[in-house]
Formats: sequence, C-alpha cells, structure tokens
Amino acid sequence: GLIFIGTYAHSLEPVQITIEKGILAVLNGVIVAAEKSPGDIACIKQKFPEVEWEKVELQSGQFLCPGFIDLHVHAPQFPNAGLGYDMPLLEWLQKYTYPCEQKYSDVNHAKYVYKSVVEKMLSCGTTTACYFGTIHRESTLELAKAVALAGQRAFIGKVNMNFGCPENYSESLEESLEETKKFIDGVLELKNSLVKPIITPRFAVTCDSKLMTGLSKLAEANSLHIQTHISENTSEVEFVKELFHGKNYTDVYDQAGLLTNRTLLAHGIYLSDSELELIRERGCTVVHCPNSNVSLKSGICKVRRLQKHTVNVGLGTDVSGGYSASMLNCMRSAIDASIVTFFPDSESSPLTYNEVFYMATSGAAKEEISSFNANDSLTDSEIIQKFIYTGDDRNIIAVYVDGVQVKTGLKSSQ
Ligand code: GUN
Ligand code: FE
Repeated sequence: GLIFIGTYAHSLEPVQITIEKGILAVLNGVIVAAEKSPGDIACIKQKFPEVEWEKVELQSGQFLCPGFIDLHVHAPQFPNAGLGYDMPLLEWLQKYTYPCEQKYSDVNHAKYVYKSVVEKMLSCGTTTACYFGTIHRESTLELAKAVALAGQRAFIGKVNMNFGCPENYSESLEESLEETKKFIDGVLELKNSLVKPIITPRFAVTCDSKLMTGLSKLAEANSLHIQTHISENTSEVEFVKELFHGKNYTDVYDQAGLLTNRTLLAHGIYLSDSELELIRERGCTVVHCPNSNVSLKSGICKVRRLQKHTVNVGLGTDVSGGYSASMLNCMRSAIDASIVTFFPDSESSPLTYNEVFYMATSGAAKEEISSFNANDSLTDSEIIQKFIYTGDDRNIIAVYVDGVQVKTGLKSSQ
C-alpha cells in the first residue's frame, strides 16, 4: 500500500475546489483511509496488519490532486497537432486529418505513434482518456494495448465511417459493423479493467443511418459508452441538415438510438434550445473542446448556456483539432473562451478556475472515479491557482492510476 502525506485538492462540488491536509492510504487502487493527522498512520497500520506501507511525503508547495480526464482526443492525430489551422473543419478533415489517419493501415506505424501518445498523455497528468482511433481494427487494438501496458485508464474507439469519405479511408456498412464487433472482443480479451471499448461513429457527415442504428444496437447489447461529434461548425450543421432531409443534428442521432446516458457528444456549439433539452433528457454529456474550437475557428461553445439547460459538461483536448494534449491548457482555454463569450453580452459570468478544475476531474467522471474521500508564502489555494494557470507537465511530478505509479518522480520511503 501507499500512504500519501500532505496537501490535496479535489472537487467535491462544481464551483469550489476543496483543499485538505492529511494522509491518504491507497491499497489495490482504492483509497482505504483518509485521515487528518500523521498520528493516524499507526491506526492504518493496525487496521491492515499484513500490508507493507510505502510512505510518500509531499513537500511544501506540492499537492495531490485527481488525475485529469480528457473526454475527447484523437490518438492517431498527434503527429498533426498544430497543422492546417488555416482551414475550416470540413476542409481540414479532407486535406490533413483523413490522410493522417489513413497511415494507420500500417500496424507498425500505429505501434510507434501510440506508445508515445500514451506516454505524453500520462506525463500531462491525464489518467483517463476517451480516445478516437482510426477505422483500422488492428491498429486501434494497438492503442488499447499501449494504454493497458502503460497503466492508463481509457475508453478506446474504433472509428466508424461508411459514407462521404475518401476512397482509401472508408469502409462498407457490413465491414464497419463486423470489424467493430471484433474490436470489442479484442479489447475485452485484454482483460484489463481499466481499458474499455467505446462505440465511435465519427459524425453524421460520414455515417449513414443504417450504420448509426447498427452501432447503437451494438452499444446497447454490450452496455457500451458511445462517442461522436455534434454541431461543431456551421457548414457541418448545414450539411447534416441537407443529408438527412431537414432533420436537426440531435434528431439524426436520437433516431439512430445514439443518445444515451453513456454518450459523449464533442463540441455542441450550435445546438438549439430544443436540441439541448433533448440532450439533457437523454442524459448525454457534451464535451467542450475550447482549444480546438478556436484553432479550427469553429466558434465558441457557451458553457453557461449548456449549464442553464442542466446538460452535463466535460472537457476535451480534441488533439489535433486542438494543438495541446494538456488538460491544463484545456482548462485555461475554457476560461479564455468563456471570457470571450462573456463580452459584450455579459448576462452570465466567465468560468472560474474552480469550475474548469471540476470539469477536468470529478465533473467528467459521473461515476466510479475521481475525488479523494506549499511554500513561497503562497496559500494552498494560491498554489493551486498558479498550477492551473501556469503549470505544465514539468510541474506534474508523479502520476498514479488505480494506485500504480505511471509517472515517476516523488520520493518514497518504507
Ligand atoms: N468531426 C469529425 N471528425 C473530426 C475530427 O477528427 N476532429 C474534429 N475536431 N472534428 C471532427
Ligand atoms: Fe474530435
């Protein structure tokens, strides 16, 4: 077991970071004790007489916090981060993104890139990620293997697209469904409780109704989460309306059965009030990807508006729509974007560091994971504010997933 001694920060509520001092005992990935004083270590040892405990003492200025959750990221697009932002979404997809993803027909290319993607993500403190892969089953399984090997927690999706995409990067309806079934089995065969398959229709522009309906049935039959894109760009929204005979984006997904309480919808910038109502009713989560929205000039998602509709909101880096894999960057972009939407119609207030921290940790988790039940004459709160605004992966000294250290740095003693 591990015993952490020091300051820890976590979000027990959406608008206020809770800062505590004390000790946390972790055994087999579970926090088995949270106590207030170092004197309580004796009690913990008494309670678990068989266990050997390793002590990790945090220094002044250091703090423990939940790992970050990136709810939307494209692993195969990492080599393209920063490229093609002189184009709008649909052109960028055709000219940069599909050609980049097509290369993963080569499994060796996938192995090579995905190893460093997972390393980078963990280094940035992202302990949980919802990954898009490519249409290629075997290469996307390599992503699942890389994640499992590195000890990250993740949902991994084989991308589905059977319509309106380049000839060399497309699949038929039958292929898409068959390969997805095999992919699900392949991930389950890894027998890693942290790594799960997720159903991933790319978006309504590249999936026909039959494919989307088939995929929603697969999700239901296997109790799987679903991830896709929605309402990211005005040309895209118009195009979907044209393709589906005037139906709005949300109705297209709803009629295919894709909107569930385990569905992640990336972007959601141009959703109407009635669409937001339906999304709330279905219990989906909208993933705000502010860096991507600005980099691709898609527009700015009004998070306060989503909140007014009581839609659950999480955060995503959306690499390579976004150029940064860091959730710290994502939190800052979310604050910046909210400040921009705040002016000039300031009927609502900008997001605070408290709120984006919540969205990047507990707020995104919904179930299962993510809260714990300095010096320079800065207060603990100030240290955390500094970290959120000026921190990067160098300030993330150690990272743990499920009680296992996945980034080294903190010294421990017996
Ligand atoms: N919409 C469909 N595919 C993509 C993608 O790869 N990135 C972004 N940002 N939007 C998409
Ligand atoms: Fe995306």
